[in-house]
Amino acid sequence: MRNKPLVIVTRKLPELIETRMMELFNTQLSINDKPLSVAELKEAFANANILVPTVTDNIDKNILEAASDNLKLIANFGNGIDHIDIDHASGKKIIITNTPGVLTEDTADMVMSLLLAVPRKIIEGEKLIRSGNWIGWSPTHMMGRRIWGKRLGIIGMGSIGQAVARRAKGFGLLIHYHNRNRLPEVIEEAHDATYWKDLDQMLPKMDIISINCPSTPETFHLLSKERLSALQSHAYIINTSRGKVIDEDALADKLKDGEIAGAGLDVFEREPAVSKALLSAPNTVLLPHMGSATVEARIEMGEKVIVNIQTFLNGHKPPDRII
Ligand code: 8YV
Repeated sequence: MRNKPLVIVTRKLPELIETRMMELFNTQLSINDKPLSVAELKEAFANANILVPTVTDNIDKNILEAASDNLKLIANFGNGIDHIDIDHASGKKIIITNTPGVLTEDTADMVMSLLLAVPRKIIEGEKLIRSGNWIGWSPTHMMGRRIWGKRLGIIGMGSIGQAVARRAKGFGLLIHYHNRNRLPEVIEEAHDATYWKDLDQMLPKMDIISINCPSTPETFHLLSKERLSALQSHAYIINTSRGKVIDEDALADKLKDGEIAGAGLDVFEREPAVSKALLSAPNTVLLPHMGSATVEARIEMGEKVIVNIQTFLNGHKPPDRII
């Protein structure tokens, strides 16, 4: 193995995956699971033939410039690749792969968890019990809002958006969506989904918004201050995609002022930092980017990384190649 291409993994992966990678490749694992500093990341780029990063590695132009000519593949552990400067990597002829498909259902479950938790005040109720201050049932206590019969506007109707639609239909939600491209009729019909070409037309009509589009330069602050102002004051926002899709400071202001009813957020604009304004915003459930955090998804993500690396080493096009 020692003369084989060096595979550097930046974070701790499931045991099973790490062990298999040690068996198959000349692998350097993360010892302490801490995100690499800029200097450490540069060193990894200088030494590796294949790099396995995660969303916590900011692979910008500066880092890519540190890569040796021998770095041929970035096999990302994760679906989103917004933390990688794709154009620059492409200029350096580095192949990039991701792990699509295997975290779709778990992320959709997390959307539903937040979609139920926020309007039904689940976390608030739980905290009350634990505080020891619950004095008993009351007809007007802990009243949330009904889910059944409300309009759900899904922004980004890819595989995760569609998995959300499938679940949401079962909860009696009316499915609406905005997507760059309209879905085939047969899929729309399966979800009873209404397509809105124009996001600005859809937003003021929705009761709940779920963000399921990727983070790209085009979707940066897609939910801008102006667009957030277009929402009804009883509307809720769920975001399991990427924080940058929403103007987070504007969202915190609107929550504080009661112009939006609540938010369920699994992702943040400046992760792992969460603004004070969001931390103190009412009717808000905040989670630490755990949408795909199941044992099954993490193993399947690792399996995808292994298959992408092995296929590449065998001289073939990796199945999840992005560039
Ligand atoms: C992953 C995610 O946990 O895959 C993605 O895009 O957002 C997460 O669910 C993370 O990216 C791992 O790198």
